[in-house]
Amino acid sequence: MNICMVGVGYVGLVTGTCFAEFGLHVTCVDNDASKIDMLNKGKVPIFEPGLEELVAKNMREGRLSFTTDLDQGVTDALVIFIAVGTPQGDGGAADLSYVWEVARSIGQRMSDY
Ligand SMILES: NC(=O)c1ccc[n+]([C@@H]2O[C@H](COP(=O)([O-])OP(=O)(O)OC[C@H]3O[C@@H](n4cnc5c(N)ncnc54)[C@H](O)[C@@H]3O)[C@@H](O)[C@H]2O)c1
Repeated sequence: MNICMVGVGYVGLVTGTCFAEFGLHVTCVDNDASKIDMLNKGKVPIFEPGLEELVAKNMREGRLSFTTDLDQGVTDALVIFIAVGTPQGDGGAADLSYVWEVARSIGQRMSDY
């Protein structure tokens, strides 16, 4: 099964890597090109015990990939997770604008298929 994880931060990278370790094919998408570049070179931008080894193993075995291209991520994905940031906005509520932005982009692509 192919799945897509949009947002490769603390939540997205760990979750996506664990899904790949379970045997799913995971495409991780982030709009931070330097982060994706780093991951494609095998470097993990956060510290989480054992994560770097799991990322390397699942990339090597072809179940985990990283891209800035949302199209590549959502094409053929049965499930798409949105794990982008929700920083605290004015008044203390979570700022959901990044989530809406990604959801809109996914919706536009779905209507193309
Ligand atoms: N970190 C935690 O411990 C934790 C715990 C519970 C819930 N959460 C929630 O999970 C969500 C993700 O948190 P996190 O800590 O992983 O955030 P994070 O800031 O570490 O990562 C978010 C990632 O999303 C990417 N991003 C932002 N806009 C994007 C877009 N339009 N397209 C693609 N990528 C985009 C950023 O470049 C970044 O890499 C938030 O809603 C947060 O509140 C986090």
